[in-house]
Amino acid sequence: MKAMRAITEIHWTPSALMLKWGDGDRVELASVWLRDNLREDRDPGNDQRLSDVADLPVIPRIRHAALQESTVRVEWEQEAGSASFDLDWLATQTAAIAGTRVLPQPRLWADGGRLDARRDFAWATLAAARGDSGVNASWLRRLVTEGLAFLADVPAEPGALLATMPLVGQVAETNYGLSFDVRAVPDPENLAYSDRGLGLHTDNPYREPVPGFQALHVLVAAPDGGESLFADGFAIAQQLRQEDPAAFEVLARTPVPFAYHSRNAKLNAERPLVQLSCRGEVVAVHYNSRSIQPLPFAAEAAERYYRAYRRFALLLREPRFMLRLMMRAGDLVVFDNQRILHGRTGFASARHPRHLQGCYLTRDSVFSRAALLAEGSSK
Ligand SMILES: [Fe+2]
Repeated sequence: MKAMRAITEIHWTPSALMLKWGDGDRVELASVWLRDNLREDRDPGNDQRLSDVADLPVIPRIRHAALQESTVRVEWEQEAGSASFDLDWLATQTAAIAGTRVLPQPRLWADGGRLDARRDFAWATLAAARGDSGVNASWLRRLVTEGLAFLADVPAEPGALLATMPLVGQVAETNYGLSFDVRAVPDPENLAYSDRGLGLHTDNPYREPVPGFQALHVLVAAPDGGESLFADGFAIAQQLRQEDPAAFEVLARTPVPFAYHSRNAKLNAERPLVQLSCRGEVVAVHYNSRSIQPLPFAAEAAERYYRAYRRFALLLREPRFMLRLMMRAGDLVVFDNQRILHGRTGFASARHPRHLQGCYLTRDSVFSRAALLAEGSSK
């Protein structure tokens, strides 16, 4: 947001207000839009709107508008009094109308294979993040823009993960519990609980909502294997969009069924592998070949889908996208589960009892904490 920008020109007609800012930006605000955004129509305490669009005059006509100190005052025909619009608020709305995102712009990393996870991503010790809100703020800012960030020196003991999560966001409980143990067990209900390698994937696309962020804390590292893999799904989707737009469109427009059934859960959801916003931006990637169901497409549609699906799967296997890291006991990674794909190499559980604890966090709570701390550190 640009603070207290100056307005150099102001014009109005009965149906719209035109503003020109000192930096040359222009915006045209409809009379009905202004009339719907009166300060007086919001609760002064919680800022929630007290009126509804059906309460507005159908065609409110501006009678007069003028700059007055740090506000623009507007009067409407057939209405007593006037309304004032704060310049800071108008500047924010001008940016929004110009298409500025509500959430921080993601910083994509397509070259994971050339990056060093310990050097090129955000790391903070638990003590520093806990003891200094500025460290916590900058760590969260990088988490939400780069999609993953790491904490070090988190005590390698059960429960330390959940005790750490207030620094990140709100834990989301699932049928796996508030947290879950990732280690090899006999007859696992999920292949994650075996010693197999796992290809890049996102977790739980069968859930509604899909877990927003995931945290994994290493209690016992495997010395030979169990390497952690990460890749930026937004960057890979963008690559597919450039290389093969038809395949990208198929993945973005086709709903795919995902399911997970166990003794205590029967979860089903349908979503595209690449999810777009109304503006056509990639806002989520859902890829989990373990839980994808038989695709309900007949011959030709199935062939078209498989061509696109395979194309994406092959990109996921390309080493150039893949960030690799041997996590150590006490390391903790947090990543955006709707953007960052994760996986691991296999390990020998008979020789080494690799053990991680994991949990999910609601997506909005992580963005909220990042925004709150950013506000606090900029004051
Ligand atoms: Fe996973």
